[in-house]
Amino acid sequence: MASTHGAEVLVASNRGPVSYTLEEDGSLRARRGGGGLVSGLSTIGPDADALWVCAALSEGDREAVRRGVSEPGVRMLDIDAAVYDDAYNGIANSVLWFVHHMLYQTPLEPVFDAEFRRQWASYEAYNRAFAEALAEEAAEGAAVLVQDYHLALVPRMLRRLRPDLRIGHFSHTPWAPPDYFRMLPDDIAAELLGGILGADRAAFLTHRWADAFTDCCHAVLGPGIPSGTRIGVHGLGADAEFLRERAHRPDVIERMAALRAEIGEGRKAIVRVDRTELSKNIVRGLLAYRRLLEDHPEWRGRVVHVAFAYPSRQDLAVYRRYTDEVQRVADEINAEYGTPGWTPVVLHVKDDFARSLAAYRMADVALVNPIRDGMNLVAKEVPVVSDEGCVLVLSREAGAHEELGEDAITVNPYDVQGTADALHRALGMPAGERAERTKRLAAAATALPPAQWFLDQLQALQDDGSQPS
Ligand code: F6P
Repeated sequence: MASTHGAEVLVASNRGPVSYTLEEDGSLRARRGGGGLVSGLSTIGPDADALWVCAALSEGDREAVRRGVSEPGVRMLDIDAAVYDDAYNGIANSVLWFVHHMLYQTPLEPVFDAEFRRQWASYEAYNRAFAEALAEEAAEGAAVLVQDYHLALVPRMLRRLRPDLRIGHFSHTPWAPPDYFRMLPDDIAAELLGGILGADRAAFLTHRWADAFTDCCHAVLGPGIPSGTRIGVHGLGADAEFLRERAHRPDVIERMAALRAEIGEGRKAIVRVDRTELSKNIVRGLLAYRRLLEDHPEWRGRVVHVAFAYPSRQDLAVYRRYTDEVQRVADEINAEYGTPGWTPVVLHVKDDFARSLAAYRMADVALVNPIRDGMNLVAKEVPVVSDEGCVLVLSREAGAHEELGEDAITVNPYDVQGTADALHRALGMPAGERAERTKRLAAAATALPPAQWFLDQLQALQDDGSQPS
């Protein structure tokens, strides 16, 4: 049933705009996050009837729901912890993420067995909890923007409960090509596609991912998009205004001084900033840097690889092992090439946004070499805040390559030798060319700022509703 005082615009995502931590004295501390959806929702104004539906992720979040603590405009769902763990770690992160980023070591994985089916039932239950909450909260004819692979089944479930709604689904990840996607059992592949096709619009970050989605629909469901769902592309850009202001605050300036001391006066910096995510390809980045030092001894002592690798998904053993491997290879390079006055790799693992911005401003070269990435906002943020221009070495498998490829140095992320050569070329690029390229990169990177990105989707959903499909 439509609620009489329901919300007119709803966003649904696994991770919400706020998280809670339980303090030692028993109180709850709320922390608000950032990102495209947050700035998008804020531009439609505090008076708009907007609601964000998200999952309780931690014990702090669950405690907040139990105590009835909430932020205005946010509804957190306290889904049973075991069901949540199966849906988030089991299916979303260990299956769907792996499929779309093509991360499996296929001789041994994936294995779709009874355990997978058990976790899949939890994924369905978790999606149903979202669909039911949205159905309960939405006003007649409201617009609902469902986010990502966690919630692929929600559009169809919600459509059945509330045919009056305008429903959009947005994928922030790449989409797998059909040959890879069809590793999934046929019924599961059909359920995922059919789930998203329950939406009026299915949108993606690039044309490449949108095309892969339609190719999968044709391969799995037959020709044509059966439901008449429209396909959209919205390439999320960097928020120049926010970044430039934030990057000039005192805490960033303080960190620039500290980083300069770590790097050493007069040395060049090859910077990377990532979550320690399997798709980010941090290890091959380190191997390419080692190759550079091997092939071009002239750079020894004159360059430092500044790598920020912030913890991510540490509940999964494969992520913990990957994190250890990053540390091991960095240590190995330092042991092999380091001298008393020069540490070749400066690796930081503690998340610090101000320090990331400091590194962005100082970078001579930014290394963004993911195996596969929906967009990669680091590639867009660095040129925007760079002080003296920065050469972008960019994987052709990052979504950002569609917009930035022309002014970056393109690499095949698996080609360590090619990446080493690209780093050498980047370090030697004349200052004038580097500055010109950075200017063009910054313009391309900010073409669709987050608030506009969000509003465009909302507008398209409403416009589509007024046209016959
Ligand atoms: O970067 C792509 C993305 O799908 C984001 O949209 C999403 O917030 C994130 O990955 C999921 O990461 P996590 O598992 O840490 O919430």
